[in-house]
Amino acid sequence: MTSTSMTIGVLVMVLGIPIIGTSYIREEHLENCVQNNNHLLCKNEFPTKAYTNIDVLKITDSRIDNLDLKNWHRSFQNLSSLTVIGNNRTKLRRIAFPREKLGIKILKLNNLQITSVFLENITNHFIGLEVLDISNNYIADFPKFNYSSLKEVYLKGNKWNCSKSLEWILDLDLSVFRDLPELKCFRMPHNNKPLLAIAQFRKITAETCTPNCSCHLEKCVTYMNTDVLEPIIEVNCSFRGFRTLPDTFPVKTKTIRLEGNEISDLSALRTNLRYRNVLDIYLDNNKLTNIHVLEGSHWLTNFRVFSLRNNQIEELPTYALDDAFKRNPNMPDAVRLNLGGNPWRCNCVFMPRFKEMLQKYAPQIKDIRDIRCAEDSENSLVPIMDLSRSSVCHSPTEYTVQEALDLLNVVLGLLIILILGKLAYDYYNFKKTGKLPWIVTKMP
Ligand SMILES: *[C@@H]1O[C@H](CO)[C@@H](O)[C@H](O)[C@H]1NC(C)=O
Ligand SMILES: *[C@@H]1O[C@H](CO)[C@@H](O)[C@H](O)[C@H]1NC(C)=O
Ligand SMILES: *[C@@H]1O[C@H](CO)[C@@H](O)[C@H](O)[C@H]1NC(C)=O
Ligand SMILES: *[C@@H]1O[C@H](CO)[C@@H](O)[C@H](O)[C@H]1NC(C)=O
Ligand SMILES: *[C@@H]1O[C@H](CO)[C@@H](O)[C@H](O)[C@H]1NC(C)=O
Ligand SMILES: *[C@@H]1O[C@H](CO)[C@@H](O)[C@H](O)[C@H]1NC(C)=O
Ligand SMILES: *[C@@H]1O[C@H](CO)[C@@H](O)[C@H](O)[C@H]1NC(C)=O
Repeated sequence: MTSTSMTIGVLVMVLGIPIIGTSYIREEHLENCVQNNNHLLCKNEFPTKAYTNIDVLKITDSRIDNLDLKNWHRSFQNLSSLTVIGNNRTKLRRIAFPREKLGIKILKLNNLQITSVFLENITNHFIGLEVLDISNNYIADFPKFNYSSLKEVYLKGNKWNCSKSLEWILDLDLSVFRDLPELKCFRMPHNNKPLLAIAQFRKITAETCTPNCSCHLEKCVTYMNTDVLEPIIEVNCSFRGFRTLPDTFPVKTKTIRLEGNEISDLSALRTNLRYRNVLDIYLDNNKLTNIHVLEGSHWLTNFRVFSLRNNQIEELPTYALDDAFKRNPNMPDAVRLNLGGNPWRCNCVFMPRFKEMLQKYAPQIKDIRDIRCAEDSENSLVPIMDLSRSSVCHSPTEYTVQEALDLLNVVLGLLIILILGKLAYDYYNFKKTGKLPWIVTKMP
């Protein structure tokens, strides 16, 4: 078909001149249609002459951009099934309906770039419509039409926008909306994930959310070797006046935000089994003074993010933490620990061990420069990383304890070397001269 004739065709339609029986269009492309009993199959365009007794009409590779049912239906009074399928370039711009209702029972509009606006109240134009197939279009949210009398609806292959509410899908009847499980989100969020599952996860997330908090389905993942879709849920309880850790939250919660509360006790992380699967906990700006209760706990060896900025923590159990880091399966890339803004105790006993731990796990400790000595102490607000041992270990008692231990280590080390040396010497002597060491000769 030439572009000239197409222009004429479009012009004819736009002007609303009845196409059937007119001679505006040249004969050769009029008959792109094949009739088989009551079925008429056409390519590209509307049939241009009247076919009697046709009850099924199918147009493939449609180039129609204005579906004018207004003038058209008079030639197909008995039509019960209408199918229009576009190619990937077809864009339907308009559907015009006659004043009277159409008797079509099956309507299929596919690959036409239809958006939901086109479909608003569409069923009002039909009497007895039973099947509506609007799959493979550009529908982004559920079209507003009365579907109560429909028996089958197909919606897959559209561009569903999952940043909008998906609650509508949960009210639909699967025996009517037959391909609901095949609907996929288009782009973010939840790109290519099933709409139905996302809607169900969102509902459960909202229903089981911690009172006074907000819960959000961040994403869904399928784990390797399974088809099971797992929700990843974030609970936000920040700035809600919590004095204790919440004891309920959605089962698949991975992140809990508890910033800006008045929490001073972490024992629930140890005792409440729900916390076992929570990987990220943000407790910045609370009233924590220590985390001793977590020593040896499951949580401490499995966390991903533990954020404790701006609390009242003075000391950490460094050995327990070191051990937990070593055993944590999320090490090294996923683990993050924030400790800045706490009044760290910069004495000779704690500070050197603490600094050693910070150095060892520097890649995991994101705010290492904000980890400073308590404001009211001698090295007020000096970053621990800049502090040398000698600057904190000077009072005699502190000095003795730490240094004596070090000295003892050195002495023990030397003794071991001495004993091994003596053993080697004796062995060598025995091989060479056959003489036993003096001590052996004295033994009974
Ligand atoms: C429509 O179908 C009925 C029977 O179902 C028939 O009597 C009538 O002639 C048909 N009309 C047209 C225009 O084909
Ligand atoms: C549209 O294009 C896709 C690939 O881009 C192809 O799989 C599909 O068959 C095409 N549909 C039609 C009706 O041409
Ligand atoms: C669809 O129907 C509703 C209520 O019947 C009406 O308010 C709305 O304007 C209609 N929309 C269109 C596009 O006709
Ligand atoms: C939808 O259509 C049914 C009958 O087809 C009618 O009873 C019902 O009132 C309609 N609903 C709305 C909201 O228009
Ligand atoms: C989805 O809807 C949101 C708001 O309702 C809009 O901002 C966003 O652009 C839409 N996404 C797509 C892919 O159309
Ligand atoms: C939720 O917050 C309100 C007001 O802040 C408070 O009265 C209520 O006790 C809180 N509910 C729970 C379950 O914490
Ligand atoms: C959590 O909720 C608080 C208070 O409503 C809000 O200020 C904050 O931005 C939220 N955080 C996130 C990550 O959504």
